[in-house]
Amino acid sequence: MFGPIAETLETRRLLLEPLAVHHADEMADVLGDARLHAYIGGEPLSRDDLRARYEHLVAGPAPFHQESWLNWIVRRRRDGQAVGTVQATVTPAAADGPAAGGPAASVAWVIGMPYQGFGFATEAARALVGWLAGKGVGEIVACVHPDNAASAAVARRAGLRPTGEWRSGELVWRSVHRP
Ligand SMILES: CC(C)(COP(=O)(O)OP(=O)(O)OC[C@H]1O[C@@H](n2cnc3c(N)ncnc32)[C@H](O)[C@@H]1OP(=O)(O)O)[C@@H](O)C(=O)NCCC(=O)NCCS
Repeated sequence: MFGPIAETLETRRLLLEPLAVHHADEMADVLGDARLHAYIGGEPLSRDDLRARYEHLVAGPAPFHQESWLNWIVRRRRDGQAVGTVQATVTPAAADGPAAGGPAASVAWVIGMPYQGFGFATEAARALVGWLAGKGVGEIVACVHPDNAASAAVARRAGLRPTGEWRSGELVWRSVHRP
């Protein structure tokens, strides 16, 4: 198996809990708002479709893919309410990439509509980036739609910087970490 394995991460207000299939039941409500897809495409999934997706994510990629899929539920510690998700896809570093050794991770975040604007994405993204860097990940990227100001702010606050590179109409944000 390639790359690190997701662990429970704790921040001041949040618990990042490795994704399990049973989370689909509570997450279908948290993620069931079309506004969340304004900049990322797609549409909310039904409970059954979300469960199928989580089964696929938890199973992970086929072993011959040098890749690991890390997914967390973001939970408010105060009352246990699930508020969103964060994810990282870890792959070997590109030979000509900026990370001198160490794998690379592509990261993303979603916070349910009622829970936005409280700094939860920033707090979760910082924990995620710090954890990945501590696991030896040398390069962290997030692809952010140019109009997605909230996500750009989260990326910046997590230590990523805009690169001027574009992938599928999204700006690439990056941080580089040395061991
Ligand atoms: C992007 C997202 C995760 C941010 O979640 P959040 O928990 O509200 O983020 P934070 O509270 O940490 O806010 C970060 C900063 O974004 C900025 N921000 C928030 N909403 C904004 C908006 N509509 N326009 C401009 N800036 C905004 C603010 O600067 C905010 O901090 P501040 O108000 O304290 O100064 C959330 O909007 C979301 O889930 N969007 C849909 C999914 C998505 O687009 N994911 C990103 C994929 S790259």
